[in-house]
Amino acid sequence: MPEKKEKILVVDDELIIRELLTDLLTEEGFEVITAPDGEDALQIIKEDKEISIIFTDILMHRMDGIQLIHKAKEINPNFVPIIMTGYATLETARAAVKEGAYDYVLKPFNISEIKTAVYNAIERHRLILENARLKEITELFKISENISSIRDEEQLLRFILNTALEYTEAERGSILIVTEDGKHLKLVAGTGIPQELIGNVIPMKPTSISGIVALNMEPFFVEDIESQPEIKEYIIGLKNKSFISVPLKRKKSDFITHHPLMDNPSDIIAVLNVTDKRNNAPFTESDLKVLRIIGNHGAVAIENARLIREIESAQREIVFTLGEIVETRSRETGSHVKRVAEYSKVLASKIGLSPKEAEILRLAAPLHDVGKVGIPDAILNKPGSLTPSEFEIIKTHTIIGHDMLKKTKGVVLQSAAIIALEHHERYDGNGYPQGKKGKEIHIYGRIVGITDVFDALGVDRIYKKAWSLEEIKDYFADQRGKQFDPELVDIFFANIEEILQIRERFPEKQQ
Ligand SMILES: [Fe+2]
Ligand SMILES: [Fe+2]
Repeated sequence: MPEKKEKILVVDDELIIRELLTDLLTEEGFEVITAPDGEDALQIIKEDKEISIIFTDILMHRMDGIQLIHKAKEINPNFVPIIMTGYATLETARAAVKEGAYDYVLKPFNISEIKTAVYNAIERHRLILENARLKEITELFKISENISSIRDEEQLLRFILNTALEYTEAERGSILIVTEDGKHLKLVAGTGIPQELIGNVIPMKPTSISGIVALNMEPFFVEDIESQPEIKEYIIGLKNKSFISVPLKRKKSDFITHHPLMDNPSDIIAVLNVTDKRNNAPFTESDLKVLRIIGNHGAVAIENARLIREIESAQREIVFTLGEIVETRSRETGSHVKRVAEYSKVLASKIGLSPKEAEILRLAAPLHDVGKVGIPDAILNKPGSLTPSEFEIIKTHTIIGHDMLKKTKGVVLQSAAIIALEHHERYDGNGYPQGKKGKEIHIYGRIVGITDVFDALGVDRIYKKAWSLEEIKDYFADQRGKQFDPELVDIFFANIEEILQIRERFPEKQQ
């Protein structure tokens, strides 16, 4: 006896056969439904998705058994068909098996043969379902793995949309994010829609499908829009009669959601829409399920990406502030560290470092003089010139900075440690603290060695006037290959226009 009542559909135009099989299979504990022909059978299959086995005669009027199997598979690909046939059509039955029928039984019936066929078919059906589930789980695992590996929000949103389109076989779709004020939806990615619509903002009101989904925070699934004429007006140019729209919701957290300083207290992050399933087919419950899962994983990934961005920008702020504090203490007031950071990034890019390496340098460069916190004020801010022993103390800011930073984790601060140590090394080996020479000096050290001096010479200080660009150029031309890496100097001045634009963008603050 089966654990759960399996549903079997018996299709035969002879009443006596239908009755016979009903009795036999009911006695075995199955639920039996009957249909006199293929048309009726299809109707039943459409309405009842739980049917696992179809017993069908081959020769029937209106639609034969093989046609029925074909059409039924389009509706529910998981059921197992068994053909019933007389000796006269045995060859046809064998052909049917080749075409997708699982088995055949011969009329007149032998009871044990029918039982064997049914139990085999049930086992087969169980395997099919298990495989389908396994495939679904594997696919969903892949989706979640891929989604969570993307950090960039824009890329992430496009990936979520593309994944949704792929898994639901939709040809059109869009994703709208909730704007910072929490009152609007902005179209950020779309497929199969006019691209000039990207960037459009609509109010988060029940005047659009996306608006309704965002407000209710529940999916909106319409299998056939004709059956819901009241929502037809919301959809313009819908080729297909079916669509699904799901919300991407923020994960509830007790303290973050109610934080009064949060910019966007809305619990909804975005709305994901798909329409126009391939071949004009309607979307199914399983499409809805997949879309919900994509939506859930997508929401978590977006939140993570935003959190990481926030942490990174906080880190950047801290690094700049620390750099500025140091500069202020050593009377290097103003935006010196910001400019050095930007110049260094430009120079790094121009000499062919990767965008990532250039960005790391930009973040790390402001800390080049962080070791000055360990130099006594009396020496650091001495108005006159320094004695040799005082200068020896000043030099230690490189080692102090390096020691402060070298214990930290993370590539930015590790890079900052190198820069702190090596930004006063000279290309000719006469620098400090280690007297490294030429390419022994880390590329970050050689770059900041140039950008730091370039910037310091060009601004007014209490103890000196700003040098003109000509004077600075002359100095660098003279020190090319002595204090500075000659190749880097050439590339730096070849891009001087870009450098000067940065200087204008970050002017000295008025004291
Ligand atoms: Fe320094
Ligand atoms: Fe500096």
